[in-house]
Amino acid sequence: MKFFIDTANLAQIKEAQDLGILDGVTTNPSLMAKEGITGQKNIIQHYLDICNIVDGPVSAEVIATDFEGIIKEGEALAKLHKNIVVKVPMIKEGIKAISYFSKKGIKTNCTLVFSAGQALLAAKAGATYVSPFLGRLDDISSDGMRLIEDIRLIYDNYMYETQILAASIRHTMHILKCAEVGADVMTGPLSSINGLFNHPLTDSGLKQFLADYNKGN
Ligand code: E4P
Repeated sequence: MKFFIDTANLAQIKEAQDLGILDGVTTNPSLMAKEGITGQKNIIQHYLDICNIVDGPVSAEVIATDFEGIIKEGEALAKLHKNIVVKVPMIKEGIKAISYFSKKGIKTNCTLVFSAGQALLAAKAGATYVSPFLGRLDDISSDGMRLIEDIRLIYDNYMYETQILAASIRHTMHILKCAEVGADVMTGPLSSINGLFNHPLTDSGLKQFLADYNKGN
């Protein structure tokens, strides 16, 4: 499973990159705003800064919601850097745009997906990635992981090449369950990735090994 980091924070992106296990980055307008990145010029520069840290797919979200607007914005984003993936919302105009981008060879990430039907449409349109938001479903007492499983089944039935990018990951168990049910990619905060390191037996075992080594030195 590929690991993407879900943030626009450059220090956190660098920290994850330095671990040697990072495959890409996802951002959205809220994550940009959280870092105080506003205005088109600054946002574009920020995408370039991210691309300079990570050599992997970097999702950049369009703001337009009409077909022509999405195409114009998406084509400009795609021209910024070879690693940019145009993130398009799951709306009718978005699906039309994903179909257009797919024919042009522009990579896309269909975002704000909350049902298997929406994921089926994204695959049919030729999206490179589909982003089911599992944490936000869990937040409203709906089973986010079940959605990932349903999409996996449907995509496997028809050998769709669209990659399932499990998004809205909140914690390490989400990552592990996504790996079990066969998500192609997960995108989560740095805390969820760092959480995978932790085990008390690793800590106590290492402490003991070092203490025993030091007895003879
Ligand atoms: C990433 O592509 C999504 O925009 C993101 O994972 C949403 O996460 P959130 O539900 O924590 O805002």
